[in-house]
Amino acid sequence: MSLIRELVRTKDVETVIRQNEDGSDGGHHARLSRRLTAWDLMGFGIGIVIGTGIFTLTGIEAKNHAGPAVVISFAIAGVVAMLAALCYAELAAAVPTAGSSYTYAYTTIGELFAWIIAWDLILEFALGAAVVSRGWSGYLQESFGLPQAFFGEENSTVNLGAVAIALVLGIVAAVGIRESKLVTNALVVIKVSVCVFVIVAGVFFVKAANYDPFIPPSKPPAEETSGLAQPLWQMISGVDPSAYGFAGVLVASGVVFFAYSGFEAVANLGEETKDPAKDMPRGLLGTLIVCTLLYLLVCLVITGMVKYTGLSEGAPISDAFDQVGMGWASVLIGIAAVAGLSSVILVDIVAMGRIGFALCRDGLLPPAVGKVHEKYHTPMRITVITTAAVCLLAAFVPLSTLAEMVSIGTLFAFVVVAIAVAVLRRTKPRMKRPFRTPQVPLLPIVSALSCVALMASLAVETWLRFLAWLAVGLLVYAFYGRRHSRLATGERPVPGVEDVEVR
Ligand code: ALA
Repeated sequence: MSLIRELVRTKDVETVIRQNEDGSDGGHHARLSRRLTAWDLMGFGIGIVIGTGIFTLTGIEAKNHAGPAVVISFAIAGVVAMLAALCYAELAAAVPTAGSSYTYAYTTIGELFAWIIAWDLILEFALGAAVVSRGWSGYLQESFGLPQAFFGEENSTVNLGAVAIALVLGIVAAVGIRESKLVTNALVVIKVSVCVFVIVAGVFFVKAANYDPFIPPSKPPAEETSGLAQPLWQMISGVDPSAYGFAGVLVASGVVFFAYSGFEAVANLGEETKDPAKDMPRGLLGTLIVCTLLYLLVCLVITGMVKYTGLSEGAPISDAFDQVGMGWASVLIGIAAVAGLSSVILVDIVAMGRIGFALCRDGLLPPAVGKVHEKYHTPMRITVITTAAVCLLAAFVPLSTLAEMVSIGTLFAFVVVAIAVAVLRRTKPRMKRPFRTPQVPLLPIVSALSCVALMASLAVETWLRFLAWLAVGLLVYAFYGRRHSRLATGERPVPGVEDVEVR
């Protein structure tokens, strides 16, 4: 087989669907059990989506880039996420699989691209878990006055708080989704309640004067952003940096996109969903609709309670209640934020296990790594490896560095999924599609372009780190995956060899 043909070899989409239906996915792994409903999917989705984005970035971006118009930034980012969700919904309903966008790429664009996507998803979920672990540790530090060196971002040596929470939740994920689901659902209830509380209680303290000006007039930023720290579009266009104004609102939408990242993890649960055709689109879109509504209302209330210039950058939501004299509410919100961030970490680790499982099943990573644990019915080894990596990253790498990487990784995956939807419509026009993305190819094209636009608003150094990560991934593929891939070895799936179900 020529090299080019090898790199673009695709899995047959019908085979993937059939394997997932009858469990004939190979000798090493058994079928994942179908137990989740649309409500469970939304629980997972909301659990992973609402987090550091709304609890922390709202304050930073309103103060530094957008003013009260940060609500517009959240709306723009929400629309981009919604377009991507519409693309995900078609593929997640038609090809329900643990691999999600990885498998979609495998069946459309080819193996090399599929591997790149998987490598990218590992970045998104492992780094996502690490960044939120650090955020969690920071909230704990603020609430209880713990030492900065081991819990905060400033003068940090080893972030012990972040390591501890990642370790505990890694163990929860490793012993089974039943437990993960229970814990996650409880935390989701707390988190949504806090947002509703902020909206309902905060609205009484909103002052119209705080919304004036809604979009603060454009001016040069306080700190010079140049060199590798400047957004990519700025370096390319040579336009002077500006805070506020409409350009500021756009820059903020790139940053707050982080707040929506993670909803696509719902698609990784395709093989565990009772009726993926109906439940997947509901789970994906439902998650985003709930989160977008909560985000917009929280933004409106917070920037109405406190003038944007006076917002806190560390804990803007609890601080806003402090500023209007509701200290007790501030403490309550702080504690709930700590609980809420835990569920983000947990779902990230669970999703990572599922991606690793799919990669090992396809021979792109050693199959032994993805083996299902006989007692716990989880991809135990991959979960343990992931948890160790998350702990290491969370211990030493600063939060902001990790967060930008998560955004660029997420947006890149969204671009590929949009392309996959359009390509599959051409190559497999008759494939059963229980949910159809409207306006194909227009909607996927707009989706991909808007993701690229948001990626361009991220810093040049983030692009460089991202490209370096992809380069490492290519080496792994060249030296392992290319030769061991099931498509290369021609190994046939053996139905029902192992009668173990993965939870
Ligand atoms: N969307 C997640 C958050 O806001 C990653 O924390």
